[in-house]
Amino acid sequence: MRIVVIGGTGHVGTYLAPRLVEAGHEVIIISRAQRQPYQPHGAWKQVQLITADRAAEEAADTFGMRVRELRPDVVVDMICFTPESARHLVEALRGRVQHFLHCGTIWVHGPSVAPPIAETQPRRPFGEYGVNKAAIEAFLLAEARRGDFPATCLHPGHIVGPGWAPLNPAGHFNPQVFATLARGEELALPNLGMETVHHVHADDVAQAFTQAIAHWSGSVGESFHVVSPAALTLRGYAESMAGWFGQEAHLRFLPWEEWRQTVSDGEARATWDHIAHSPNCSIEKARRLIGYTPRYSSLQGVYEAVSWLIAHNVVEI
Ligand SMILES: NC(=O)c1ccc[n+]([C@@H]2O[C@H](COP(=O)([O-])OP(=O)(O)OC[C@H]3O[C@@H](n4cnc5c(N)ncnc54)[C@H](OP(=O)(O)O)[C@@H]3O)[C@@H](O)[C@H]2O)c1
Repeated sequence: MRIVVIGGTGHVGTYLAPRLVEAGHEVIIISRAQRQPYQPHGAWKQVQLITADRAAEEAADTFGMRVRELRPDVVVDMICFTPESARHLVEALRGRVQHFLHCGTIWVHGPSVAPPIAETQPRRPFGEYGVNKAAIEAFLLAEARRGDFPATCLHPGHIVGPGWAPLNPAGHFNPQVFATLARGEELALPNLGMETVHHVHADDVAQAFTQAIAHWSGSVGESFHVVSPAALTLRGYAESMAGWFGQEAHLRFLPWEEWRQTVSDGEARATWDHIAHSPNCSIEKARRLIGYTPRYSSLQGVYEAVSWLIAHNVVEI
């Protein structure tokens, strides 16, 4: 099939484009050409790259028409963040595509009730990002279920892979937390360290997209969590990382208000966002309907990412 990926050179696109080429598809990627994929792969020679700024072309009301004129069988939208953006594309592509896949987020969920959360849990999103993604999901699934537009939503967790810093055991992105654990030094965690995070390797996200495309009848009109088989508690994550470095974890637990004084404002905001969500999502539906089989546990994905940070001297151990 002829597949257009909007925003296909980032974390997920790095793995998705080669997977689509290997499956025999014709792949066209739209990006601003400001960045390169994280990993080299011979398949990129067969990918057609189109330079365009979605935001600018949406403002000019031309983006949907640009995508439509590429005559795609399938469109993968990696970078849609508002319902208006989704609507713009749907209006242009209605009746023109066999499948439309939207990249959402597990932030469509707010506080969980009975983890691991199923896709059927009523949405209680908070924060602009999650609220908008939940509105996009509701819009696309309603369009699909009315039979008007063949949409699928895939909701990744915290994406990890070699080339960028993973969400760390303190719930933020400063890679020095890994160096602290590697040296066997004390690490402070908020509360009891029992709040959860839920990673997924970027290649497993790419796998979910290719599986959803291959299982059209099971995926149209549906949304799926795309995470590793199990979430981690911050405490368990810290202990496991320390063990990976051959150390014992020296953890100290502080009440939130005290803990937040020990990190920068940005780190505190990131941690609050993660522990307030404390995601723990089920992949049972994705396993059953689209045959999603993640290759990486949360820790395996993080180990690979941290190995890259060590090899590139970002984390000195
Ligand atoms: N990162 C996470 O942990 C995470 C977790 C859950 C869900 N998600 C979802 O994953 C999606 C993002 O996927 P990703 O992490 O693979 O993306 P990413 O690494 O941020 O890459 C973004 C891609 O979009 C292109 N792009 C950005 N702005 C553009 C514009 N205005 N016009 C055209 N192209 C543009 C980028 O290339 P250029 O810069 O060259 O244009 C790149 O190809 C989002 O929908 C996000 O909500 C991410």
